[in-house]
This record gives sequence, C-alpha cells and structure tokens, in this order.
Amino acid sequence: MNVKILDYRTFVILAFVLISTGCFVHAQVPKGGKEISDELLGLFFEDINYAADGGIYAEMVQNRSFEYDPTEQQGWNPFSFWEYMEPGYSYGKISVETSNPVHKNNPHYVVVDAEFIGNYEEHEGKSGVGVKNLGFDGMVVKEGDTYNFSVFLKQLSESPITLDIGLQGTDGTVLAENKIQSTAKNWEKYTTTLVPSQSRDTTHLVILATTKGKFAMDVVSLFPEKTFKNRPNGLRADMAQLLADMEPKFVRFPGGCLVHGDGLHNMYRWKNTIGPIEQRVEQRNIWGYHQTAGLGYFEYFQFCEDIGAKPVPVVPAGVSCQNSGGTWRIGGKGQRALPMDEMDEYIQEVLDLIEWANGPATSKWGSKRAAAGHPEPFNLEYVGIGNEDKMTPEFKERFTMLYEAVKEKHPEITVIGTVGPFLEGEDFDKGWELSNKLRLPMVDEHYYIEPDWYLGNQERYDAYDRKKAQVYLGEYASWGNKLYNAIAEAVHLTAIERNGDVVRMASYAPLLAKKGHTQWSTDMVFFDNTTLCPTPNFYVQKLFMKNSGDHYYENVVKFSKKDTTLAASTVMDSKTGDVILKMVNAGKVPKNMEVNLSKFKNRGGNAKLTVLTGDPEAENTIEDPGNVVPVTKAYSVDKNFTYSAPAMSLSVIRIRTKT
Ligand code: AHR
Repeated sequence: MNVKILDYRTFVILAFVLISTGCFVHAQVPKGGKEISDELLGLFFEDINYAADGGIYAEMVQNRSFEYDPTEQQGWNPFSFWEYMEPGYSYGKISVETSNPVHKNNPHYVVVDAEFIGNYEEHEGKSGVGVKNLGFDGMVVKEGDTYNFSVFLKQLSESPITLDIGLQGTDGTVLAENKIQSTAKNWEKYTTTLVPSQSRDTTHLVILATTKGKFAMDVVSLFPEKTFKNRPNGLRADMAQLLADMEPKFVRFPGGCLVHGDGLHNMYRWKNTIGPIEQRVEQRNIWGYHQTAGLGYFEYFQFCEDIGAKPVPVVPAGVSCQNSGGTWRIGGKGQRALPMDEMDEYIQEVLDLIEWANGPATSKWGSKRAAAGHPEPFNLEYVGIGNEDKMTPEFKERFTMLYEAVKEKHPEITVIGTVGPFLEGEDFDKGWELSNKLRLPMVDEHYYIEPDWYLGNQERYDAYDRKKAQVYLGEYASWGNKLYNAIAEAVHLTAIERNGDVVRMASYAPLLAKKGHTQWSTDMVFFDNTTLCPTPNFYVQKLFMKNSGDHYYENVVKFSKKDTTLAASTVMDSKTGDVILKMVNAGKVPKNMEVNLSKFKNRGGNAKLTVLTGDPEAENTIEDPGNVVPVTKAYSVDKNFTYSAPAMSLSVIRIRTKT
C-alpha cells in the first residue's frame, strides 16, 4: 500500500517537473534559431461592409428596434425594412412613438391599432393587421430547423390580443407559424419558435394581430437556434466556423475607424454594448449604416474564448476620427477631443473595461460579466488605445493620460499605441516619437498598399530597433483580392515571421464584406446570406496561421536574394516539434529553392505539402467561391532537397519528426 502511494506521488512530482520545464510537451528546439512571437497572426474584426448586423451577427430581423434614422442613410426612418399589412380586408393603423419606451436607450417603438379584422381568408390566405420585416436581403431558413422569435409587447387596449407570428415566402407561402397572446399592460418579453416546412433563401417575418386591439411593439428578434456553439444572441454558424478553422491567435475588435467614430458622439463606448439587447445603445455606424450593438463586447469576448483566440479590444483615445464629417476631403480636420473635464470619467471607463474582463465576479464590473453568464475572467492581456489618430497635441495629451492610468492600475496589461494610417509620414513619425518617449510596449502600424510594394520591401522590419516598442501590424493588405495580391502578402508574411521577435502580432484587414453592401473593396471573406467566399488572401492567412511556429531559422531555404519575387521562412513549432517551410514564388515561371534540413535531427520522409497557385489574375467570387484553393498532399523530404516552387505560388511543407 505504502509503496503504491509513494509511486503515485513520485509520478505526480515527475509529471509536474516535466511539464513545468517544458520537457513533457515541448520538443527539443535545435540551436541556431531565434524565438519569435507565438501569437503572431490573428483577425481584425470591424463592423464595416455589414460585417456585424446582417453579417456574422445571426439576428435575422433588420431594424429590430425601430431605431433606423435618416442620419444613417437618406430615406431611412424607424420603419425602414418593415411593411405595414392588413390582409383579408382588415384595417387599422400604425405609428412610431417614443413616449414610453422599453428602455431609455431604445427610444422608438411601433404602435399597431388593429381596428377591424376581416374574415375573407379565402381571398388572401389570412386576415389581420400587422407588419412584415424584410430582413437583411431576406431571411434564409432551413426546413426542420428551429428559429427563436422574441418581441417586447405592451397591450394598450382592454382585452388580450392574439398575434400570429409566421415565416412567409415571397410568394406568400406560410412556411412556419405560431401564436402569442399579449397578457400585460406593461412592456413584457414574449417568445415562441418557428420551424419552417421548407428551406428558402428569401423569407420574411410576419407579425399579424388576428384579434382587434391596440398594442406597442419593440425589439423584434429572430435567431436561428443553431448559432455558432449554440450561443444565444450568437453568431452565424458557418461564418464563425470558417474563422475558427483559421486558428487565429487573437481577434482585434471592434475596429478600425469605427472605434474613434464619426465625431465625439459616435465614438464606440464599450459600456453601451453590454447587458440585455434592449438596453444597448444603437447608433450610426461610421461606415454609413446602423449598428445595433447586438454584437457587443460580451459577444466579442465570448467568440474569442470559443475559438481559443486572445481578445484585443481597441478603445478610443478620447478623440474622434480626424476624417469625421467627411473632412478627409479637406485634409482630415475633423478630429474632436473629449473636454478635459470629461477625461477622468473616460479614463475610468477604460479601467472599468479591464475590471469587467478580468475582475472577480464580486467586483462591480466583473459582476456584470458574471450576470451575462461568464463568472470566470476573460483573461484580457492587451488593450489598444486609439486607431490611426492624427498626432495632434489634443490626442497626445489624452493618450498619455489613458496610458499612464492603465499602466499604473494594471501593469499586467499590454497597452498598444497607434502610429497613424500609413507606413510612413508625419503621423507615423510622431506616433513613434510618442511611443519612444512614453516607452510604450507596443504600437499599431497600418498600411494598405500596392502588391509590388510587399515584394520590394521585404526588409522593412529587419532594421527595427528591438529595444523599442514591439509592433502590432494591426491592419494591412495589398489592394486587391486576386491571387497575385495574396502571393504578395505571403511574401510579406515570410518577412513578418523572420521578424517575429519585434513584430508581435499582425492582422489582415478588413475581414468580412457582404456582397452589395461594401464600403471597402479589398476584403478577406466576401459573403451573402447563403454563401461564403474566402479570397485567395484568406487562404494565405489561413496557411500561415495553421502553420505558425515559435522559433525561426535562417538559411534553411536558399534562393537568389536578388530576386524579389522569391521569399521563404522556416519556423519550428516547439509544441509539436514540426518544422514548417513556407516558400513563395511571386514570379511568372517556376523557380528552384534549395532546402537544407541538417539543423533538425530526425527529419525526412513524412511531410505534408500544401500549395496555393494559379493564374495571377484568378480570384474567387460568390458565384464560384472555389476557383482558387490550396491543395494538400503527402510529401517526402530528404535532409537536402531541391524544391521547384510553381509560378505564382505559396508552398507550405510541414515536416514531422521521424519516428
Ligand atoms: O480596414 C478599413 C479601415 O482602414 C479601418 O477602419 C481603418 O482603421 C483603416 O483606415
């Protein structure tokens, strides 16, 4: 018995020692490499191009809270994307009101007065008075799936009102229907489910009073039950899964320019985006449409956790976008700064975010996270302050106040500063000056540029001073979604890996774009309501993400350095022990590269080759999303071998330890 106890203890101690020294889970790392960031590549998420509402946020009802208005788009009003209905020779009236809303943050609601319900169903299929929601270009439903409906109602007439809730095809076919009955004279939430009898790509939601009466209605919501990970108020499952499958190490959110906003009143304030959806503050999106904030901070953090990515929230630096009000046309003079007497409160708002994310469930803000269903902390490590801001004295003063406050109260948090919208120039230089002065741990660089630039500037980060701030390349892309653009970005990514000791993180931008609703032409994934169209740029990102390492090795792949169409990088993932070669040929003919694996013991045989190649002009479209896709096959490698890199290609060879 004693012997057994001793054995068990010895085993536990030994296992602990092995795990804590890394011997148990980490392969031996050969000499001659350098440690690089193990969280190099992630996602940039911004609600641009209908990425959130109408995109990844699975809400099917558009303008669910009747908060659309003409400042967002000409002609928009609280009843946009709704239609009034009085079928079967019924009649009534409808109005938009504000006197007694569900919540002060959600001022508009609709009052329906069903004055007369006809009984001529045989002519029109149904009688009643109500409304129809057109969704975001219609609503896609699948036969047999469950859709969760909810609505806030307030009965304004004496007797209860019966409502038929249905999904209707554009030809009027009723695909699913259920009833609810108002019971309360105060705002009350009612729910039901709808299970369509057929699959359709363009349906509408119909809410019809089939008994006489008057009622107020707000926050009309319809969600597929099958959201990503079945989360309530969740994300479109296919789209979220596509992103999860990339295995990003982090997700930056909520932008982009959306963060600092179109004028001070439009800054993205995180506290407005948490809590019950009917209490969130909806507002105009800087990109010219509406954000419900249904995809808010809780949902962003939850998504990060669900896909094993670190959350990287970016908060405004107390100033609005310099291009506010369209002032980019006159040199970007639209930056506005929070008055100094509001800064204490604003600084506290940023500190509260950290408590909300990481504080115990008993803390003031941690308790709000717990109330939303997440008592455990979210383990926030990074906070970005500012986005591409103009380096004015007002910005610098406010940024410094925010940075000092976070550093003092939360030294465990890495603050990411900002260095303007371009790869060089005044804001870039002044941003770096400020960073050096404050000794920032990290700054956020952005550049959107022609593909050729990436080929000719592979050495950008080689000369960066490793004693200064690390770089988060928070937004970059080449202008275009053709294969050539993607391959140019692959060239850049090999340079980023080589400099993974100073570039800590990088994310392509923007991420998502809905067909017919884009504000930015070059994006990583296009989509409509039924189809996802990952671009060649997506596949480059995915290949680098899924084949990341934590140690970088020079001179494993040799080729003519004078040929700027060629690039390569070699990393090792110490967790699996795999050695990964990435070889890029952005030229028009195949080129040989010489590989020497002698640094790595027990390598050879047993490898996997993935190649993305094709016509430089090739791209994917919603109609043909599979035109350019990578192909993987088993591959055998020797200690020394020659690899012929196809024209216009990224090749990834993943080599396992010989067994
Ligand atoms: O990614 C699109 C936009 O580009 C971002 O909102 C902004 O930060 C940048 O200028």
